[in-house]
Formats: sequence, C-alpha cells, structure tokens
Amino acid sequence: MNVVEIKDLYKSYENGKIKALNGINLTIADGEFVSIIGPSGSGKSTLLNMIGALDVQDSGSINVAGQDLDDSKKLNEFRAKKIGFIFQLHNLIPNISVVDNIEIPMYTQGLSSKDMRLKAFKLLDDVGLKDKAGILPNKLSGGERQRVAIARALANDPSIILADEPTGSLDSKTSSKILRQLIDLHENNNATLIIVTHDMEVAKLADRVIEVLDGEIVSAGDDSLFNSKINI
Ligand SMILES: Nc1ncnc2c1ncn2[C@@H]1O[C@H](COP(=O)(O)OP(=O)(O)O)[C@@H](O)[C@H]1O
Ligand SMILES: [Mg+2]
Repeated sequence: MNVVEIKDLYKSYENGKIKALNGINLTIADGEFVSIIGPSGSGKSTLLNMIGALDVQDSGSINVAGQDLDDSKKLNEFRAKKIGFIFQLHNLIPNISVVDNIEIPMYTQGLSSKDMRLKAFKLLDDVGLKDKAGILPNKLSGGERQRVAIARALANDPSIILADEPTGSLDSKTSSKILRQLIDLHENNNATLIIVTHDMEVAKLADRVIEVLDGEIVSAGDDSLFNSKINI
C-alpha cells in the first residue's frame, strides 16, 4: 500500500512568481524510509510541508494515508492524528517547560493529564532527557532541543514521521544519535520515515533517495520516473 501518492503537484508562492514545485509525481510505500535531497531552494521543504498537510497545493493531487489533502477543514485533524513533524528550526514553545512542550500533540488524544505526563516522561527518557523535563527550552543546547523536538513529534504516535534537516545544525555525534532514534522508530513501529537533508551520508541511510531540482523530481531512486515517461 502507498502511504503517499502525489500526482502532478504544483505549488507557487507570491502569486505564482516563485514556482516551488513544478509537477511532482511521487509514491511512497507504507513503512518505507526515504530521503529527499537537492540544493538549497530546490523545493524540498515545500514538498515535505505539502505531505505534512501544512500547506495547500495550487493544482494536482496529494493523498496521504488514504486522505486527499485538498480539504483544508480536515487538515488540522489529519495532521494531529497521523503526522510527526520535525522542523529545521525546532520551534519549541519558549515560555513553557520541556515536558509541557511534549504534551502539546497529546491534547487531541483524549488522555488524562496524568497519562499525558507519564507518556511525556517516557518519551523524554527515550531521548535521554528525563532530567531536563522541568526547564525551559532556551536552557538546552541545540542538540538537546532537537531531541525534545523529536520526542514531541512522536507524542501522537505518528504513522508518518517527516523530518526537515533534522541534523542540520548538530555535531556529528549528536546527529548520528538523532538519526538512530528516528530509524529505530521506523524499524520498531513500522512508521514511514521521510527525511529531507542536504547531507549525502544521511541520505544514503534510507531505502531510497529522492532527488529534487528546481521543483521537480530528477531521480526517485527507483524506476518510477522511467515508467511514467514511457507510459505517456
Ligand atoms: N513561504 C514562502 N514564501 C515565498 N517563497 C517561498 C516560501 N517558502 C519557500 N519559498 C521559495 O520556494 C522555493 C523552494 O523553497 P524550499 O522548499 O524552502 O526549498 P529547500 O527546502 O529545498 O531549500 C525557494 O525559491 C524559496 O525561496
Ligand atoms: Mg528547506
């Protein structure tokens, strides 16, 4: 089964002046681990944001986990239930504690406050930060903040994990630790893992490398582009 099916997807900004995605066709299988690479400005983040239902296309279709992402009323709910998003800038909420940040995605799950706290501590323990639960994010190092962002992204038990340059600003030791955590989740929970990176070493860890250039997929790491071309 495909968890992502994208057909002829176009997305522009500033009234069409900036063409970020120019006819993307892509399928990703349920439980797959793929990486998306490409130079800065090539449309990687835009593509990931579309998959994560953070933005709406100009034209074309995008179906994620069986849901067509064209009904903006349903996008919030969809995102809350299915997606774990780790952003380039970890955007933790600065004026609430680490553990409170992690509980935010749980509010849609109907857990009691006690169960939310237990789950948040378990997630923090998994990323090695249980002892930092009560402090504010700005007291953490970059690597620690990114680990909190990962714990938060996993708080809704997502079936799809989207990570935009998750190791971008981190030293190599912290970065391998974070990648290991993401890959473990993919392997243990059969979650689909999609990582955007400009680092080929990171990209190569995936089952498949998708290459984006000027808003188009120039290589999908399989023969799907070739097939789609000969089918025309
Ligand atoms: N919110 C936005 N408003 C205007 N232009 C944007 C916006 N987001 C991205 N872009 C532009 O769209 C293009 C693709 O950007 P992006 O998807 O962020 O690329 P990447 O992640 O590969 O660096 C770039 O030209 C970028 O400047
Ligand atoms: Mg980007």
